[in-house]
Amino acid sequence: MSEKKQIVMSGIRPTGYLHLGNYFGAIRNYVKMQDDFTCYFMVADLHSLTTHPDTKELKSNVHRVLAENIACGLDPDKVAFYCQSHVHETAELYLYLNMLAYKGELEKTATFKDKVRFNPENVNAGLLTYPVLQAADILIHRATYVPVGKDQEQHLEMSRNYANRFNHRYAEVFPEPHAFNYNQELIRIPSLDGTGKMSKSENHMATLYLADEDEQIRKKVMKAKTDSGPVEQNAPKPDYIENVFSLMKLVSAPDVILKFDEDYNKCTIRYGDMKKQLAEDMVQFIAPIREKINGILHNPVYLKDVMEKGAAKANESANATMKEVRAAMGLNYY
Ligand code: TYM
Repeated sequence: MSEKKQIVMSGIRPTGYLHLGNYFGAIRNYVKMQDDFTCYFMVADLHSLTTHPDTKELKSNVHRVLAENIACGLDPDKVAFYCQSHVHETAELYLYLNMLAYKGELEKTATFKDKVRFNPENVNAGLLTYPVLQAADILIHRATYVPVGKDQEQHLEMSRNYANRFNHRYAEVFPEPHAFNYNQELIRIPSLDGTGKMSKSENHMATLYLADEDEQIRKKVMKAKTDSGPVEQNAPKPDYIENVFSLMKLVSAPDVILKFDEDYNKCTIRYGDMKKQLAEDMVQFIAPIREKINGILHNPVYLKDVMEKGAAKANESANATMKEVRAAMGLNYY
């Protein structure tokens, strides 16, 4: 009999077009992991309601996230690829975990504080308990590996805390989930202007989207922040120059990167040439994904089928966990 595979879970909110950060922080790992693990990947539509209560564009955003993941190589036949709201038991587990989550720790979460600063008009309870819902997503499949970018590290730590608290209070039901990246360190893809990270809903001109047209890609890359070049040989690189190099490392050939690195160290680098090269390599990388996205989006019948099959697989796993959860908690009165 074959050894039981480790369980993997992750999700992406449908709050806008997916970008290079989502690809290199998350989706690239999903695609690698799908052959070796039992995988549950989902579109976090419920999480998106914490900041995007208007649901007019939700359906098309959900379809887009599904299509974008599949275009990147995610195979819905190999994994459970589903919508968060199609697994109703997640809401039940979220309720139970909320009793083990404390207001003080939730208020200290970095993502909560950021969102409050960004939108002080809509500080709702769902926003505060966002990490609890994320823990429910992960624990409902008893996942141990969670492929995510660096920004999700704290949420994973909180998920581990809730798993441990539940196990100590009731019974050993959940393994500890850990953030995962094949290259060990979690990734943060910087924005092109050197001020933050690439994002679905902010800083559009400094973010490269998987759906960007070739000309848009060229325009954005050529605007990336640089300066007139180093004046001292082998000088350390300022952060924004380091960013351009790290973007190049994602898509360009090693000898190309080496050449610009040597030019930098000799103070002969021409950032205009470097950005032109980076722009062309980005176009080569993004264009085939963009074409595939557009093809998949034209097939809503296929997307419906993906969602239905994904929900069936995810519900089977969720129902099995919830039976154990209810029994462990003593919620069985017959
Ligand atoms: P979301 O939708 O913000 O991002 C989806 C994934 O992309 C990663 N990511 C990045 N990685 C590197 N550099 C960047 N600039 C960058 N921007 C985004 C994120 O780390 C994430 O892996 N809370 C989650 C969604 C979620 C979830 C879950 C994740 C809901 N339930 C359960 C894991 C497990 C979020 O908002 O991701």
